[in-house]
Amino acid sequence: MDKLLIQGGATLRGEVKISGAKNAALPILCAALLAPDTLQLSNVPQLKDIATTKQLLAHIGVLVERHGDRVSLDASHIQHLDAPYEMVKTMRASILVLGPLLARFGEAKVSLPGGCAIGSRPVDLHIKGLQAMGAEISIEHGYILASTKHLPHQRLRGARYYMDLVTVTGTENLMMAATLADGVTILENAAKEPEVVDLANCLISMGADISGAGTDVITIRGVAALHGAQHSVVFDRIEAGTYMVAAAMTAGDVTLQGVQANMLDAVIEKLREAGAQVDCTEQTIRVRSQGRLQAVNIRTAPHPAFPTDMQAQFMAMNTVAEGVAKVTETIFENRFMHVQELQRLGAKIEIDGNTALVRGVPSLDGATVMATDLRASACLVLAGLVAQGQTTIERIYHLDRGYEMLEEKLSALGANIKRNH
Ligand code: EPZ
Repeated sequence: MDKLLIQGGATLRGEVKISGAKNAALPILCAALLAPDTLQLSNVPQLKDIATTKQLLAHIGVLVERHGDRVSLDASHIQHLDAPYEMVKTMRASILVLGPLLARFGEAKVSLPGGCAIGSRPVDLHIKGLQAMGAEISIEHGYILASTKHLPHQRLRGARYYMDLVTVTGTENLMMAATLADGVTILENAAKEPEVVDLANCLISMGADISGAGTDVITIRGVAALHGAQHSVVFDRIEAGTYMVAAAMTAGDVTLQGVQANMLDAVIEKLREAGAQVDCTEQTIRVRSQGRLQAVNIRTAPHPAFPTDMQAQFMAMNTVAEGVAKVTETIFENRFMHVQELQRLGAKIEIDGNTALVRGVPSLDGATVMATDLRASACLVLAGLVAQGQTTIERIYHLDRGYEMLEEKLSALGANIKRNH
């Protein structure tokens, strides 16, 4: 099992190119299933989750070719309409093939994703939304069996559907399904994340008729068919936020390339509140800080509020900041797995329900810690960058799911970090 070894104390300086967004690329790869044509993507990050999705799509019958950051997907000859458990259990986002398969082929058999470290993460809203569009859905032996064979033209029908929880992949699944439905679909209380908007932009370039993406009401007018297109994946705002925190925590001076600051307002605001200097241009964000940061209260909520995927990173920042801060997680019921690991490094944190109270300490002490989920792993890397001595992070396959070339990018900024196989 690979480990990361980090010698704390380095100050990060320089420039870092931010990669394409994992959470935009995943639904967009699945959108290729909607058209009997070729979808050509660029700025696709090289990540474990992307490779897993490509394997799943290849199983279904999509011809997938990768050249560097470019991926082409030819979905003109589909052979299977299922997503087997063996593949879905490694990546929950596999549920994103359900909407496209059902919309284009009238049937789909997709394994129910299991839970995961950060919570039960049901998919009931994905299922209820498709049922609202006329799909017949049963759950048998751990699989979702969906069909529209009983409907006119065997196609989903447009519907108005209110999601009683803001769900990112739920919004994405239903938006994709609605592109080929008979009639108009209105998704209310839709997720507004930039990755939802990027998916909508890709679907529109494939011939879909979508308006309102980025707001909480998305209207999709079904069309007879979609066609191939070219699309460049939006940058990864969570990878960007992670490097911004790394720069602030190490009293560094780092400029991020290939980013759009307007997708990171809540994160930028909190970094400034902590005392970092953040300067933005059209395509860059520069983060500088001197001396000790101030602790900042965090409360996660759907976009444009503070992103849950940045909660662990800011908790790491608070562990060595001046003062006491509250970190409240409102999206997932168990997203404090990193707390125990941070405590092994000397952090002072008390959990009370979905709130953690963090008392800043002058410094952390390096130790061996264990990654438990993707963003918790990133938080431990950040803590290791400032801890005294060596920090060893085990189970870093979690990191490889969501951070492209992490140790190379951090080393180029001056961090003392290496992977041992
Ligand atoms: C997406 O997960 C992201 N993953 C997550 O990023 C991110 O943390 C999350 O959105 C919230 O922003 C991808 O986009 C691939 P949700 P998703 O459906 O869509 C509940 C990362 O680190 N819910 O928005 O699975 C759910 O349990 C990952 O990159 C239902 O109850 O999250 C959660 O409490 C981690 N029923 C809340 O809604 C449903 O049918 C939000 O979940 C769907 C969701």
